[in-house]
Amino acid sequence: MGQRSSRRNATPAVARELALQPILGASARMQRLLRLVSRVAPTDSTVLLLGESGTGKELVARSLHLLSRRSQGPFVPVNVGALPESLVESELFGHARGAFTNAAGERVGLVEGADRGTLFLDEIGDMPLPAQVKLLRTLENGEVRRLGENAPRMVDVRVVAATHRDLQSLVAEGRFRADLYHRLNVVQLELPPLRERREDIGLLASYFLDRASRRQERGALEFRPEAMALLEKYDYPGNVRELENAIEHAVTLSEGPVIGPVDLPSAIRSPRLLPRTAASTDESESAGEAAANSYSSS
Ligand SMILES: Nc1ncnc2c1ncn2[C@@H]1O[C@H](COP(=O)(O)OP(=O)(O)O)[C@@H](O)[C@H]1O
Ligand SMILES: [Mg+2]
Repeated sequence: MGQRSSRRNATPAVARELALQPILGASARMQRLLRLVSRVAPTDSTVLLLGESGTGKELVARSLHLLSRRSQGPFVPVNVGALPESLVESELFGHARGAFTNAAGERVGLVEGADRGTLFLDEIGDMPLPAQVKLLRTLENGEVRRLGENAPRMVDVRVVAATHRDLQSLVAEGRFRADLYHRLNVVQLELPPLRERREDIGLLASYFLDRASRRQERGALEFRPEAMALLEKYDYPGNVRELENAIEHAVTLSEGPVIGPVDLPSAIRSPRLLPRTAASTDESESAGEAAANSYSSS
């Protein structure tokens, strides 16, 4: 992916902050995804990222930007699902002074703000239909029309969209425009859930451990094998984000240089409510190990 070499170069502080965070993944599916990311990044293609929350969609979107010829331009992330429905259009496309009640000054929309850069539309499935019409126009003609203005303005924006929802069923329900779906779906990249690529867990866990120990100035830390076994067995409904937070939790709580099962969040220590076995009733000592044993024997 080339991010290592770009990181090694001496870069000014600001640029380093924007530098690529590596997308880690040893699994075949992540390796394939990384190849696709480096192939698609330098093009201007619209990219649709699919995957559960926490699988790395925003990280991939940033990488697509930083590996493109637009890397010196803005990367503008927008969580469409978090915008109040009544404000989606004015936030994205801007408005003229007095375009609607409360529109005091004029406003440059986020789409214009991403000119010469990349617009990351997260949770695109939540976009209201009127805004979808306008977005399609931008994608097709590079035009943006601020609310309350007649003349369109031209923008040069690359769009990366993401969703954890099944857009095709939203199309079938009439909640997402088919034409926009096809326009966004030029290149589709799917981020697999972490539980479907368990071989990546160890790699990610070690990376997050190093990073947390550096941030908390804790020196060299390591996992006890029992702790790593628990990490590798857990299902991670919150995917990589959940693993990242679990490691930070463990580093914060651990007293010595070795992370044990007791340092892990309880969801990971006892991943499921299992019928009690002789081993799991013994909670005084390593409850985590008992949970690991009963979990693997289920
Ligand atoms: N493959 C990966 N390698 C390293 N860090 C990752 C990876 N995937 C996700 N992360 C990290 O996990 C967190 C959640 O990722 P994010 O891109 O926000 O997920 P999403 O947008 O799908 O909800 C971020 O801190 C991100 O840097
Ligand atoms: Mg996200």
